Amino acid sequence: MSAAASRVRRASGLAALAALAASAAIGVVGCDEGADDAGGTAARESPARGSAEREAAREATETSANRGATAAGEPEPCAERALAATDELKRALKTRLMAAMREGPDAAVTVCADEAEAIRARVAEETGARIGRTSEGLRNPANAAAPEWARRYLAEPHRVDGAFAPWSERVDGEAHAVAPLPTGGLCLTCHGAEVPPPVQANLDERYPEDRATGFAEGDLRGVVWAALDCE
Ligand code: HEC
Repeated sequence: MSAAASRVRRASGLAALAALAASAAIGVVGCDEGADDAGGTAARESPARGSAEREAAREATETSANRGATAAGEPEPCAERALAATDELKRALKTRLMAAMREGPDAAVTVCADEAEAIRARVAEETGARIGRTSEGLRNPANAAAPEWARRYLAEPHRVDGAFAPWSERVDGEAHAVAPLPTGGLCLTCHGAEVPPPVQANLDERYPEDRATGFAEGDLRGVVWAALDCE
């Protein structure tokens, strides 16, 4: 593919991302419901959302590094794109999860286990970001590898008005973004304290070292992280 063609492809990919971020903001993407309910304002804090909210979030945040803002207080475009990539992975995984749950939670475990990596790889390709999920209580050992700044977020989550909030920074030629994944009602079936026996049996078989149950609604289940080269 020529450089021009690849630029065009990247540009249309970004346009699609922007459209997705916009539709998520107004709740068109149904699977955001439920998943975000316990997260309170977490999803609304994304700087991809309305400018009034962006203003409020920026004021609440105080330090510019938290939102990858420039010294003048403007959102840093590369950090914004890294945040948009985290939004896209969240959205893609939730969409697939919600569809799979219609077949029942046991079937959905199988879908998550078999498809999460392919969805992650597709979003990485589309956004150009290195991207993944991680947690302090891991289920899938493949999610253990994560950058130092993503671990820092887990240890000390960024909060705005008490709710987990997205965080980003721009360091030299790279932007880093972390989006919280709060435990919502939907998540409890597979990550809560009382996982139904057939689901538990499926999990035991696939993840003998599973540390991702016992979460309560509102707990930070994990994060999506993304790193982007800015040029
Ligand atoms: C149907 C069962 C099921 C439901 C419901 C579910 N998960 Fe998971 N979750 C899994 C499985 C299986 C994995 C391991 C496979 C993978 O990497 O996705 C996983 C992995 C994860 C991971 C990656 C970190 C790790 O532990 O490996 C995060 C973060 C996560 N889930 C968050 C959530 C959140 C937030 C919700 C609610 C919106 C949710 N999950 C709902 C089954 C589920």
